[in-house]
Amino acid sequence: MKTTAALTVLALFAAAPARAGVTLSFACDSTGKGYDICKAGTDAWAAKTGNTVNVIQVPNETGDRLGLYQQQLAAGSSDVDVYMIDVVWPGLIGAHLLDLKPLVPDKEVSAHFPAIVQNNTFNGKLVGIPWFTDAGVLYSRSDLLAKYGFHGPPKTWDELAAMAKKIQDGERAANPLFQGFVFQGKNYEGLTCDALEWLTSFGGGTIIDPSGKITIKNPQTVAMLKTVQGWVGTIAPEAVTTYAEEEARNVWQAGNAAFMRNWPYAYALGQAEGSAIKGKITVSALPAGASGHGASTLGGWQLAVNAKSKHAKESVELIRYLTGPEEEKRRAIQGSFSPTIASLYKDPEILAATPFFGPLYDVFVNAVARPATVTKAKYNQASNAFANAVYSVLTKKQTPEEAVNALQSQLARVKGKGW
Ligand code: GLC
Repeated sequence: MKTTAALTVLALFAAAPARAGVTLSFACDSTGKGYDICKAGTDAWAAKTGNTVNVIQVPNETGDRLGLYQQQLAAGSSDVDVYMIDVVWPGLIGAHLLDLKPLVPDKEVSAHFPAIVQNNTFNGKLVGIPWFTDAGVLYSRSDLLAKYGFHGPPKTWDELAAMAKKIQDGERAANPLFQGFVFQGKNYEGLTCDALEWLTSFGGGTIIDPSGKITIKNPQTVAMLKTVQGWVGTIAPEAVTTYAEEEARNVWQAGNAAFMRNWPYAYALGQAEGSAIKGKITVSALPAGASGHGASTLGGWQLAVNAKSKHAKESVELIRYLTGPEEEKRRAIQGSFSPTIASLYKDPEILAATPFFGPLYDVFVNAVARPATVTKAKYNQASNAFANAVYSVLTKKQTPEEAVNALQSQLARVKGKGW
């Protein structure tokens, strides 16, 4: 016969929440310190819940990640439970992702920027919870601005070119590796982002407008391409056409560039102990082009659950934890990842660690979306066509006029009878 004490213990066991102890596989980040900062979050959740999370190695570039994940998902694989997905992917892989709407309380979802939640809604399903947002920003070397008599970062692309030239000419005397301006000039998704910023700042539209009309063929596009072609081999190295985010950051962080276009993550790395440019970084909005205003491309990443996951319940718990305010705050402070929860932009500790989040709040909120929603499953093809065309101009394989004409026809072919 069982004693009362033993019965109580048994009853407690029955009532206790299941200590599931499952092992989740998470395809997270790899850019900069992205892996470690992600892992610190999953370790904390694992310690709290008794589950295990394997944070797997993923390719560096978004396009390579997409290719891999599309293969896994199309094959119906359940190997990866949780994916970090790019803001331009819902239309590309949304069909394979779990609908989080019934699984995540509304008040948690609505804490995030509504435009991103809307972006993550595919065929009525909420396929990702926003994790961090991205907007292109301009990094300037504050010490060199002062040394060369400039009062602040450039406000226009023409100013940037003139300032970059002056600083480069001066610095090259002692440092032959020194570059005026580095950005993402490689032929990949990052070039689509940079070039959309140039295009919008020149008043050339957004490649394809929200109604699906192809708008790329216009004089502003040609003017923009002429300007950026002139940067390569003058204020930017010829090799800029091989740079993704990390290649540009490596040149910048070694102290070898006056200006860099990049995403916010590069700030925490530049400010880290041992960085050659710690304390010498100014972050500002990207310069204006012929339109009179500047533009930043909207980037950013969401957390999604594989519809085939065998541990959907725990996967949802993990992403609710990671996308909550405490984790977004930790990541903003440690990695300068821009939160997707508006109230965090007023948090004093976040602003102390990453001061530009305050003044550049509007840049984040007004960032220009790539035409992913309207092009749906054809976004990748459209983006590749755009990046190819810009790349052919940067590498001087085509004139701006030739590239624009060819791109217009190619986009029309991709569109076919409709997006
Ligand atoms: C950043 C952005 C992402 C974009 C990528 C391009 O990771 O957050 O949206 O697609 O850069 O390289």
